[in-house]
Amino acid sequence: MEIKGKNALVTGAGAGIGEASALMLAENGAAKVVIVDIDEGNLKKVADAVRAAGSEPIIKVCDVSVTDNVVQLFEEAEAETGGLDIVHNNAGIMAGEPFFPDTPMGKMIAVIQINLLAMMVGTRKSIELMRARSAAGVIINTCSVAAFSPMAADPAYSTSKAGILNFTQSCEPLKEAFNIRVMAICPGIVDTAIVPLDAEWLKPALEAVKILEPKDIADAVKTVIDDESLYGDQITINNEMAG
Ligand SMILES: NC(=O)c1ccc[n+]([C@@H]2O[C@H](COP(=O)([O-])OP(=O)(O)OC[C@H]3O[C@@H](n4cnc5c(N)ncnc54)[C@H](O)[C@@H]3O)[C@@H](O)[C@H]2O)c1
Repeated sequence: MEIKGKNALVTGAGAGIGEASALMLAENGAAKVVIVDIDEGNLKKVADAVRAAGSEPIIKVCDVSVTDNVVQLFEEAEAETGGLDIVHNNAGIMAGEPFFPDTPMGKMIAVIQINLLAMMVGTRKSIELMRARSAAGVIINTCSVAAFSPMAADPAYSTSKAGILNFTQSCEPLKEAFNIRVMAICPGIVDTAIVPLDAEWLKPALEAVKILEPKDIADAVKTVIDDESLYGDQITINNEMAG
């Protein structure tokens, strides 16, 4: 799909990968970019950058951990843009310290609500809205290399990402049925606020590899949007080995 003239929505757009994705969409000529986050201050800064790049930003302050919020978000975004073409479900958190099995119960549940459930609801709602207009669409779900292996310090996180991968792969038939492509992107370690750079368990990995930049992941989002052969699967953005 060509980005130029299309309407897009990005969750977790206040920082990191989501911010880079929103800017990439604006730089490639998106008409309207709905930027979603809980951090209103950051959204205002990203809105300025989106506008400077030539797109119309629409700010939505929304906590995607609440399912009703996500449903309302997509309905408002559809009405205010005139129709969403590109959706990037990206907002995510890690449980952080104390590590599993001492993770607070509420934090474990929040990881699933934000990373997995919001992505499922966002994907489901996007499909509903795109189908109602008989419109083609691309839905990108930010997954992680954490989907491929256990993660002893934060199993809620790796479980949420494994769930995203399965859910996305389960959407494979939607391309043929409705011309709606759903894809996951699986980044390695990216230089953003979510990464616990001081954590002992992450140190060996951080020493062994070159850390990715958010722009590298936004480039992968563009690849997914551009390439009509990509759907119902994932692409991995691996870290190169250091040195
Ligand atoms: N950074 C990495 O190494 C890495 C690797 C693989 C996957 N990811 C995934 O990338 C995605 C983006 O993370 P990031 O690395 O850019 O981190 P980040 O912390 O920089 O950005 C995450 C954004 O999501 C927002 N957010 C958090 N909870 C929210 C909620 N309830 N509702 C709405 N917005 C909320 C935050 O305010 C923040 O702006 C996440 O899904 C993360 O799991 C990151």
